[in-house]
Amino acid sequence: MGRIMIVKPEVIVSAPAGLTSVEERALTQALASVGAGKIYILPEPVAAAIGAGMPINLPTGNLIVNLGGGTAEVAVLSLNGVVAYESYRGAGDALNEAITNYLKRKHNLIIGENTAEDIKIQFASALEVKNPVQIEVKGKNSKNGQPSVVYINSNELVEPTREVLNNIANTVKRVLTKTPPELMADIIDNGMILSGGTSMLKGIDEFLTKAVGIPASVVDEPLTCVARGLDIALHNLNSYKRSIKIT
Ligand SMILES: Nc1ncnc2c1ncn2[C@@H]1O[C@H](COP(=O)(O)OP(=O)(O)OP(=O)(O)O)[C@@H](O)[C@H]1O
Ligand SMILES: [Mg+2]
Repeated sequence: MGRIMIVKPEVIVSAPAGLTSVEERALTQALASVGAGKIYILPEPVAAAIGAGMPINLPTGNLIVNLGGGTAEVAVLSLNGVVAYESYRGAGDALNEAITNYLKRKHNLIIGENTAEDIKIQFASALEVKNPVQIEVKGKNSKNGQPSVVYINSNELVEPTREVLNNIANTVKRVLTKTPPELMADIIDNGMILSGGTSMLKGIDEFLTKAVGIPASVVDEPLTCVARGLDIALHNLNSYKRSIKIT
């Protein structure tokens, strides 16, 4: 907004639904320090569901699974509010770490963060595929520190990523155990909606469908879903006042 601001801008921001009061204060102070006036905080799963176009204003149950970089957030929403919620501190970054650790353990290869990210986006899959490809990975030999090139089969990446994905599936299951029975019918019929960058991992919808037992589908444009939801909420503050915190 440039250097000189006559009126401090109103800012809407999403944050994990389980934000502590200390974290909330840190967030609002950070925003105030860069010039924010009124600050609206919307839980990230609510923002994701609005961005996904889910009918969360109705008295029905809506299951949203937002898979980002640092956290997987799972929520059941109804009447514009959070009915059941859990967050797991492991998502896209944890997948990169798992791939990095695997290459070191199995192939004595040390790779950088960007390489792990590239391998994940291009080749990793939550389930084995029929036509795996051979991947050339360049890095450093962990034993002698010299340049090293290793060839792996893309299906090898299923094993190291499985623990994180199982933990995400278990988080969804725990949220379902906290969900009131009258909301289950809608969830069984409509399944779960996946948003966030990590929902673009190949096969993750099929994996979660199998692991949880209800259909999972990925929203259109998962990376911008939360931002789109915030935009809609900012222009309809009254509709979402049950979920928005104003500071
Ligand atoms: N095609 C892809 N396949 C798999 N993962 C992807 C893909 N594209 C992006 N990602 C991952 O998505 C993550 C970023 O997603 P997103 O922008 O939703 O997270 P964030 O909102 O920044 O994080 P958080 O919600 O945890 O605060 C990164 O871990 C990135 O590696
Ligand atoms: Mg996010």
